[in-house]
Order: sequence, then C-alpha cells, then structure tokens
Amino acid sequence: MGERDLPPGPVLGIESSCDECSAAIMEGPRLLGHVIATQDAHAAFGGVVPEIAARAHLRQLDRVVAAALERSGREAEALVGVGVTAGPGLVGSLLVGVNWAKAFAFGRGLPLVGVHHMEAHLFANSVENPGAEPPFVALLVSGGHTMLLLARAWGRYELLGQTRDDAAGEAFDKVARRMGLGWPGGPAIERAAARGSPGRFELPRPMLDPSVPDDDPAAFDFSFSGLKTAVALVVEEIESSGGAEALESAVPDLAAEFQAAVLDVLVHKTLRAVRATGCRRVLLGGGVARNGALAERLRGALGQGGELFVPSPRLATDNGAMVARVAAWRLERGDRSGLDLNADPSLPFPGLEAVHEAWSVASTRRGSGSGARTAAII
Ligand code: KG4
Ligand code: ZN
Repeated sequence: MGERDLPPGPVLGIESSCDECSAAIMEGPRLLGHVIATQDAHAAFGGVVPEIAARAHLRQLDRVVAAALERSGREAEALVGVGVTAGPGLVGSLLVGVNWAKAFAFGRGLPLVGVHHMEAHLFANSVENPGAEPPFVALLVSGGHTMLLLARAWGRYELLGQTRDDAAGEAFDKVARRMGLGWPGGPAIERAAARGSPGRFELPRPMLDPSVPDDDPAAFDFSFSGLKTAVALVVEEIESSGGAEALESAVPDLAAEFQAAVLDVLVHKTLRAVRATGCRRVLLGGGVARNGALAERLRGALGQGGELFVPSPRLATDNGAMVARVAAWRLERGDRSGLDLNADPSLPFPGLEAVHEAWSVASTRRGSGSGARTAAII
C-alpha cells in the first residue's frame, strides 16, 4: 500500500473554530462516536469571547476526543487518519485544535488533513443522509458566513453569491442583543417570532430586487447590516416613546418581522439560484439551518419537483462529525497536510471558483438560457 492510500478504518475529526469543542469518529458512512462540548461562559458577555474560547478548548479537547473514542467503541490504535478544522474561525481556537491534531497524528504516525470549516458545513447533511450528494445548490448560513453556491461535485464549487457585510447568523445575534433577548440570538429570535406576527413593523428586504438580471453580482449577494440598523432604529423609537415595557411587548412582532425579512431574502435568492442553474436539489448548512421557519419556507417554495436537505440540529451548528466526514473524503483522495499545517482565520474555500466572474463566464459558456445549464448540471 502506498503512502497516500488510506486503509479502511475509523477517522477522527476535530472542530474547534469557534465556541464548540467537538470530536467525532466516522468509519465509512457510519458515525460511531460524536461529542460536542459547548462553552456556556460566553453567555454572560453576550457573545463569544475569543480568549475564553481558546482557553476552554485547551481544557476540553483531551476529554472530548477521549469521550468520542469511548462512544465509538474503537481504540485510538484503530484510527487510520485525522482531520481538523484549520480555518476560517477564531485564530486562538483554531490553533488549539490544529496543534492538538498535529501532535496526535505525529505521535501515532497517522495521516493528517486540514479542513475548511465551511466545506465541513457542506458535508454535514451527508453524515446522516448518504443521498445528500452533489450536484446541489447550497445555502450556507452561519454566524460568520452567508454563501450561496453550486456544488457540481465534492471539491468543485461555484460561488453564486455571499454576504457583503454581516452574516445571517450574525444579524440574528446582534438584533437579538438589541432587543434584550440574550445570546445566542438565533434560537431566541425564532422563539420570540413564534409568539408574534410580521407586518406590524416594516423592515427592508435588502438586495431583493427581482428586476436585477442573474449576471449582476447583486442578484445572488446578500447584505444584512442595513436590516440590523433598521431594527436598532425601531427599538430606539419604541424605547424612547414607551420605555422598556413597550419594547418587551413589541419584541414578538418585531422578531417575527425581522425573521420574515431575513427569510424572504434567503428563500428568494436560493430559488433564483435554482432557476438560474436548473439544479432543483437544495442543501442547507450552518447554524441558521436550525431555524425551522427557514426550512419550512424553502420546502414550500421548492414544491414537489424539488429536493431539500436540512441537517438535524446537532449537525447544523458546529460539530466534529462534519469535519470527520470531509477528512475521510479528502484523505481517501490522497490529500495530506504536513506538520507545517497552520491555523488560518481567512482560509480560502477549497475548489471554489472566483466570485461572480466565474458565474458569468460559466453562464456565457453554457448558453444564456437556464435550460442549457440544466442539461450541463443534472
Ligand atoms: O455554524 P455555527 O454553529 O457557527 C458558525 O460557523 O458561525 O452557527 C452559529 C449561528 C449563530 O449566529 C446562531 O445565532 C445561529 O447560528 N443560529 C440560528 C438558530 N440557531 C442557531 N439562527 C436562526 N435560527 C435558529 N434557530
Ligand atoms: Zn460553523
């Protein structure tokens, strides 16, 4: 067996890019053990504190990996490879995972591969659903990223659009904070929105202009910063006229309107991507994929002819299983990282064609009608 061949056996995946410390053991398509340790210490500060996160990973990682191995029923000696999130993320948190994985792999003579965090979110659905394979249109919505891309095959991605400022999850977190809903904001907004109705307050739907043509970069890009400011202005107005009590009673309707605004944009652009690419398989990934209303709206919009993959809540937010899944795939195809692997907070997405230029070049090359592209993709 050559040095690049991977013998069959379990692969360890480690995730420590933000505030979840997680490890998983996957063998082929089977998830054998998975542990996610969250870090409650951040709640008191209303957001993730990088220094606290890095120190917590340092304390947690040994135990998290040991627990994942124990649950898998496999000995560390049985492992055939290690994957670790190398970026993007918080540099201190990433460094803990990367160095731990390097030492572990070196000590045991195991092949190591650095994993891109957002590519891991792309693989998350396939951990529990082997059918979640490309080609698909993916909407990746997390606390740090908002991306719409076309996956032609694993490792071959075309970026359709991304956020120009805040990520969708970041907007949920910041708006929740301004409304006094605590952290993390996404689940809090979703709960509050369920008690209210959109429409009482009027918020903008940023960059949602159906008259913009598909080859205009604005067609698939997002912007949530203005929406966040619009919420802050409404909150200010309510507070100055009625005080904290008025705000408390307005929160459900305001949360419902905010959520509706974000979802209108996400669903509209995803559907536009489906039409433009002709690909009717859609995949959701990232923490915001936990939002039940988003999945419901997308399912409804796609209709019977579409197929939607939504990760279960545990696999939507950061987790080690998705890292183990990408690592296994990359190791099998011969990808290896050396001991010079480093944490990179702005690691480029692997296999991603350039923004917009690629999309417009691709559209001209394949003909301007979506029918021509349908044939090319499916
Ligand atoms: O993917 P993730 O765990 O971490 C990053 O890679 O950033 O995503 C975390 C984000 C947070 O911004 C959080 O507020 C958001 O996912 N989130 C939600 C929901 N649950 C988590 N956003 C909207 N609705 C939810 N139910
Ligand atoms: Zn994430």
